[in-house]
Amino acid sequence: MNLAGASVLVTGANRGIGRALVTRLAAEPARLVLAGMRSVEKFEPVALSPEGAAEVRPVQIDLSSRESVDASCERLGQELERIDVLFNNAGLVTGGLLEEQDMEQVYAMFQVNLVAVAHLTQRVLPGMLARRYGAIVNNASISAYAYFPAASTYAASKAGVVALTEALRRELRGTGVRAMHLVTPGVTTDMLQRTEDIYGRHLDTSGWEQIPPEQWADQAVEAVKAGRRVVNPPGKSRLAMLAARGPAWLLDQTTARVFSRSPRG
Ligand SMILES: NC(=O)c1ccc[n+]([C@@H]2O[C@H](COP(=O)([O-])OP(=O)(O)OC[C@H]3O[C@@H](n4cnc5c(N)ncnc54)[C@H](OP(=O)(O)O)[C@@H]3O)[C@@H](O)[C@H]2O)c1
Repeated sequence: MNLAGASVLVTGANRGIGRALVTRLAAEPARLVLAGMRSVEKFEPVALSPEGAAEVRPVQIDLSSRESVDASCERLGQELERIDVLFNNAGLVTGGLLEEQDMEQVYAMFQVNLVAVAHLTQRVLPGMLARRYGAIVNNASISAYAYFPAASTYAASKAGVVALTEALRRELRGTGVRAMHLVTPGVTTDMLQRTEDIYGRHLDTSGWEQIPPEQWADQAVEAVKAGRRVVNPPGKSRLAMLAARGPAWLLDQTTARVFSRSPRG
């Protein structure tokens, strides 16, 4: 996909992978990069170059509820119809033993990670379909494939993202619009820190791979340009993804070594 003159929206763009995506996209000859964030006053300007994007603009995108997604779309006005590439990146993480998880947080997580992805995509698709040009890029996770204990609700949301994306990809065949997903490994952001905190009570996360957000953002943008279906993780995460496609006992054995129902010492 050629990004020259394109209009791109990234959700969760004030920090982490979203911020890295916006910075990376600014180097592409796009017309406009919309940096979606809950509080636009948090936006830190991105350096522009003559060969890069013409403009990077912060926009308020709040995915907390059906109403807030609709309100965010209304605020975008005519720019909503002009979006060519949508990065559904914003996300929340929940975890721990299921019986101990906070259900308020679980509902909020499913809303942002899965329901809002379907909703925002639905609002953006008509413009792409009319122009027969566009891409939906959904940030999933290694957890969408490798179902680790202590990650039940988060894994379910991300497996849902993969299901949504793959079904949509087939639905869009022949329209000029693509859907793809990112099987994101451990990326050094606030979320990774939080993941270690909430999983760490029961799960040894010390062997998890970590890559910088800039590296992952670069791979994601290159994959969009190449029209790929999926961006796979590197190293051990890739092995975990492959193991998860094999017989269940493979992951059973791996997870038995790193998980304990009683809090780890
Ligand atoms: N980091 C990893 O290791 C890892 C691994 C696998 C998958 N992922 C996925 O990658 C994506 C980005 O994660 P990250 O690591 O960059 O996380 P992060 O640093 O925690 O950033 C999360 C982003 O999502 C936004 N967000 C949360 N709730 C929102 C809401 N209701 N409305 C709008 N925006 C909201 C946050 O905005 P505020 O600043 O306003 O809270 C923030 O910009 C997520 O989908 C995550 O599940 C990350």
